[in-house]
Amino acid sequence: MALRRGCNHTRPMDTDARELMTELREDHRNMATVLDLMDRIVVQMEAGKDPDFELFDEMMRYMTVYPDAVHHPKEDIVYGQLRSRRADLAEDLDHVPDDHNDIAHLGSLLRDEIEAINAGAAVRREKMIEDTSAYILRLRNHMRWEEEDLFKRIDKMLDDEPHAVDIEDLGHIKDPVFELEIEAGFRRLLASLRSTS
Ligand SMILES: [Fe+2]
Ligand SMILES: [Fe+2]
Repeated sequence: MALRRGCNHTRPMDTDARELMTELREDHRNMATVLDLMDRIVVQMEAGKDPDFELFDEMMRYMTVYPDAVHHPKEDIVYGQLRSRRADLAEDLDHVPDDHNDIAHLGSLLRDEIEAINAGAAVRREKMIEDTSAYILRLRNHMRWEEEDLFKRIDKMLDDEPHAVDIEDLGHIKDPVFELEIEAGFRRLLASLRSTS
């Protein structure tokens, strides 16, 4: 699978918010790629093998510095605009910020467990398998729901009113792995992504 987004990706100043939706969908593809790698870690742990915990740590660090810190807050702003501008399209959205908080919470617990293992502590294998599987499932279900339901509502709002969301207010923070490829911080993750491309 290919690394997505070039390093020189920049957003033109005059573009409308549909570009933002393209970015959010691209983020999902990138997150799905990392979750696919995480599946392999679960398979290894289930087989009684020790996975590469440094790689696992980089995956969870990525999840906390980009999806949790950039992707979800961006979505929260867009969903807020949908609620305030198009109440007719915004039914049943009250749980979304909780979903994002829950995913961030599950992710930080998992990251703490991995860091503890890397620091020499013993964490039960069954608990790691359970927590990792729960995290993967939760995030996949959340992304699927957004793509099948929520993003379509946003598309509808933006088709009717392309500048409903002021994307200049959101700024653009680059993805540290898929855009910037910061070798020092994510060396193992990048190597794993390249080996599967
Ligand atoms: Fe989300
Ligand atoms: Fe999302």
